[in-house]
Amino acid sequence: MILIGGFATRLRPLSCTRPKALFPILNKPLLQWTFERLAEDGIKEVILAVNHQAEVFIKEQKIPKNGLKITYSRDPLKKPLGTGGPIKKAEKLVGHDSPFLVLNGDIFADINYKEIFKTHEKENAMATIALHNVKDPSKYGVAELVKGNYIKKFVEKPPRKFAPSNLINAGVYVLSPEIFELIPKARKVSIEREVFPKLAEEGRLCGYILEGLWIDIGEPREFLEINKTLLNSLVPLEEHKARGRGKIKEPVAFDKNVSTGRQSVIGPYVVLGRNVTIGNSVCIKDSVVFPDAVISDFSIVNGSIIGEGAMIGKKVEINSGCIVGDHVKIRDNVTLSRGVSVCPAKEVSKSVLKPRYIV
Ligand code: GTP
Repeated sequence: MILIGGFATRLRPLSCTRPKALFPILNKPLLQWTFERLAEDGIKEVILAVNHQAEVFIKEQKIPKNGLKITYSRDPLKKPLGTGGPIKKAEKLVGHDSPFLVLNGDIFADINYKEIFKTHEKENAMATIALHNVKDPSKYGVAELVKGNYIKKFVEKPPRKFAPSNLINAGVYVLSPEIFELIPKARKVSIEREVFPKLAEEGRLCGYILEGLWIDIGEPREFLEINKTLLNSLVPLEEHKARGRGKIKEPVAFDKNVSTGRQSVIGPYVVLGRNVTIGNSVCIKDSVVFPDAVISDFSIVNGSIIGEGAMIGKKVEINSGCIVGDHVKIRDNVTLSRGVSVCPAKEVSKSVLKPRYIV
């Protein structure tokens, strides 16, 4: 089961127009990466636990299913069920035959799903959580492991000095069907706050340490980070190769039908989506540009995310940490200082020199 029904407030304004699971990672929706990984490990069926809006967006994307059978389980209209409620709601679809996997839809992880199932079965746990070691665990659920892989204590978002370890909930779980008895029906439930701490106390919560690549794209910085990490590991494929004019500083990834103008400098760490048009003498680095955006002559984009179909005028300067929503129009000569976010379809005709949200 993949959970794709949160509000993704931290990724606004880009998440106003797509769920986190559809954010493009190297020009491929995150959900497509997840389907591919699940299919590789022999998973046959996926339940997408969605809200109405997410379902519409996912169906529009026509993501290749890789042989998986996909079923939708919908939260009630205007009544989000949190991270636990959607699991309870899908009880009949999941059935009571065997343990099942639950993934947060905003996780990019190189995880071996077979191994986490093995740990779950070996330890005979009610729930097994994939755990990842991070420097600052304070914005995650944190686990204290004891021998035999059991989690003694599970605390959601503790202040840094009270965190029992640096092992955090990686948003990947194996659950046994008995879990359904512990999740209240037809209401919003946080599995992290209402179910896991109790299971830890009762000695029925297990951990599986995830060593490989893991990132949750909850925040814009993390979204840029995963694109950068994958660019670094990219073997330049013909399809990623930059076409067009200007100077390309690797690593970059270009989707189909991208054009770049004379004397532009693109890279390093730039991802350009399908049909993106870059004018002459444009400089872009450390940024992701979603499909169909246009960046006109003499503009500079640094450390930012440019939404789908955005139109950036001439001599525009976009500084680090900016997020330009889908279909935004930025007029010629405008400067956006660091950390400016612009809501979808907004027109900006004056410079914005302090970090703020333009609605
Ligand atoms: P923020 O508002 O930025 O914290 O994001 P979020 O709402 O997505 O919350 P969070 O990152 O904690 O959610 C973890 C996972 O659970 C994500 O994949 C969400 O899409 C999913 N999720 C959160 N709330 C709901 C919900 O009410 N229903 C469903 N179906 N999924 C949810």
